[in-house]
This record gives sequence, C-alpha cells and structure tokens, in this order.
Amino acid sequence: MRTLLKNPSQIVTVSTNGKNFKRGNELRDISILENHSLIFEKDRIIDFIPYGSISNESEYKIIDVKDKVLLPGLVECHTHTAFAGSRAKEFRSKLAGTSYEEIAKLGGGINTTVSAVRNASFDELVRLIIPRINYFISQGITSLEIKSGYGLDFGNEIKLLRVIHHLQKIFPITIIPTFLGAHAIPIEMKNNREAYLEEITHKMLPFIAENSLAKFCDGFCELTAFSTAEIDVIFSKAKSLGFDLKLHTDQFNAFGGIEVALNYDAVSVDHLEVIKENDIAQVADSDAAAVLLPGVSFFLNDGYAPARKLIDAGAIVALSTDYNPGSSNIANLNLIMSLAVLKMKMTIEETISAVTINAAKALKINEDVGSIEIGKKADFSVFNTNDYTDIVYNVGKNLNELTIKNGGVIYKNKNE
Ligand code: NIG
Ligand code: FE
Repeated sequence: MRTLLKNPSQIVTVSTNGKNFKRGNELRDISILENHSLIFEKDRIIDFIPYGSISNESEYKIIDVKDKVLLPGLVECHTHTAFAGSRAKEFRSKLAGTSYEEIAKLGGGINTTVSAVRNASFDELVRLIIPRINYFISQGITSLEIKSGYGLDFGNEIKLLRVIHHLQKIFPITIIPTFLGAHAIPIEMKNNREAYLEEITHKMLPFIAENSLAKFCDGFCELTAFSTAEIDVIFSKAKSLGFDLKLHTDQFNAFGGIEVALNYDAVSVDHLEVIKENDIAQVADSDAAAVLLPGVSFFLNDGYAPARKLIDAGAIVALSTDYNPGSSNIANLNLIMSLAVLKMKMTIEETISAVTINAAKALKINEDVGSIEIGKKADFSVFNTNDYTDIVYNVGKNLNELTIKNGGVIYKNKNE
C-alpha cells in the first residue's frame, strides 16, 4: 500500500537533482516545495502531488502533516556515542582553567573514558547507549554514525564495535560503525607507541575487516594523539583492507593532517577549527566533506571552524554534534544548527544542507538518503511548525514531532 504524507506546509527537499551533495553556494538552495503532498511506497519516495489532487485517498495510508514542515531524515555523521563513565570532574577542572589538552597530557581526557569502557561489560554498554540513540531518533535523526575509540586495545575496541553491531540490529535507523583505534595512545603504551601502532595495523584492522565490524577507519591527528607519519601508516593499511577513511584534524594544531587525509581520498576531514588558509582551498577543491563541530568550540570555549570561508571557497560542509563525554557533551543536533548560524555565520539554509545531504555524503550514504527526491529512501523528520526557520530559531528545543525511517513511523512526540 502507498502512503500519502498529506498537506505539509513545506517540503524542504534539499534536492540536488541527482548530484547527492552540495558544495559552496549550493548549500543555500534547499528547494522548498509548497502546496504539495508526498507519496511513498514501501521504503521509497515515488511522487510529489499538488494538494487535493488524489481522488482515491482510501487506497492510501494517510499520515496527516497539515501545517507541519517535512525534512529529509536528519543525518548525524560524527559521534562518540559508545562511551561509559563521566568526565564531570574534568569539566570542573576545565571551568577552573585547565585546558582540554592539559588534561589529556596529565593522562586524563580520552584515557579516563577508556578506563570506564574497559570496566564496562558488553551488556552495560548496550544499556548505557540505548537511551542516547533514542534521544537522537526523537530529534528526527534516521542515520547515525558511532565511533569506537575508547577501548584502545584489541579486546576492548572489538567489544565496542560488537556493541555497535548489536545496536544496529535492535534499532530501526541506519547505524554506521567507525573504527577509531587511533584516538589516543593508551596509557599503558605511552612509552611504546610503535607497539600500539602495530596492534592497530596488524591485529585490529585485519580482524575488523574480516568480520565487517566497521565501514570507516578514523584517526585523531593531533600533538596529544597521532602524528601525520603515524596516520599515514594506519591509513595505508586501512585503505588496502578496503576501509573508507575519515580524519579528526586541525582541532588545536594544524601540521599536515589535511594533506595526509586528502592524499588518501578521505571521505571526510573533521574539526578544522584551526585550518590554514591554503588548506581551506585544498579541502574546497576536494571531494571530502568538511565536517564542522561547533559544539566542541562551545563546550571548550575555543575558536570556531571558518565555516564561512570553507563554504565560500566551495567546500562540501557538513555539521555534527561530535557527541562525546570530553569535548562536546552535547547530543542535540538542533543546538548545533543554531550555533552554526550564531557563531559561524552559516545561513539557516546552509545548516539544513549540512545536517542532511552533506552529512550523508560524509557517511557515503548520500545516494540513498539526505534529500527528498524520487527514488530515495522514505526517511523523514516532521517538525511541528509551518516554517523551517523555526527549527533553527528555537535554540536547543526539539520541534521534531515524527520520525519516519524506511517508510515506517518510528517515533512520535507524545506531547504533541
Ligand atoms: O572529536 N578529538 C578527539 N576526539 C573527540 C573527543 C573525545 C574525548 O574527549 O573523549 C573529539 O573532539
Ligand atoms: Fe570526534
């Protein structure tokens, strides 16, 4: 049976005319369709029709979205949702003046979360993560990336990836696993970095490839984490095993991470708070998505990535929460969109492209999701307003009323 999504005030199609991403100026064009309803069958969009033009409505399943705004299902393309424990104590130190990098150098930061994850069982991790995913779904998110990176030894990285794999099976949304063994040097290997690198390249990566436990291999290129030469070694192995690549780079220091990532045709370069001028041009000329994470700048009270310059230069800019316990304890994508307009001078339309089609591009799922176009998946978020401006104007407030994934309603806001 076909479904009629009836009488929305606006369909924010984010149409790309089949190109499936938006670069530079294109981010501004989100192709609003008014006075139209939408038809889908099973999990695919099949048509847009003017209001009132269907005579045999009884043959359709009707979802009434009168006076609501229809968007593509939102895509959350960079998260560290698979964590245990709390970094509230370190949050206090940060408020008292110790920087994120100083905390990392003192053996805290990522390594604090690593101890908590190592002490947590598979079942405990699953229990902790379930409500976090439900929160994402309640916001209209239908595709979600989750990284490992808090195990940092063979057994615990595999445990995290297996947890993510299990969550993929129990949730109706698309969950994309990323291997982030190169997140930090685990504390016990502090004086033996080569051995940890070898564990990643010789043990973890081959096992993860063989068991299809991750789609992407990610790394953290930073003074407190991995050098460009180390990332090169990891990427070379990962690429040979068939992984697609992502890189956290230019967060606090810019020393060549972008060049390495682009050399390996990384699908995305993420952070870019301190990116250099000539690297802006390189990213803009490439097919890599620039994933910007203003929640980190907000949470750490640091500078923001030069979103305006990147977009004006022609980059494929995406936005994400970077939800994690240390640098962005923010799982609210709506707040991220508002930060992007208030702090990074993006337009409202650009933020919408950045959490839909371009976030999908950052996960290589953009052929299927991220825009409302005929033939694409019936993934939608339905907002309780008649004007999409309200989504970004209502800072931190969840206006999502319905989340639809593969043609099925998977969340309904009971307060509406
Ligand atoms: O994306 N930059 C490195 N990784 C995370 C932070 C993880 C943590 O502090 O736990 C990030 O900001
Ligand atoms: Fe991150």
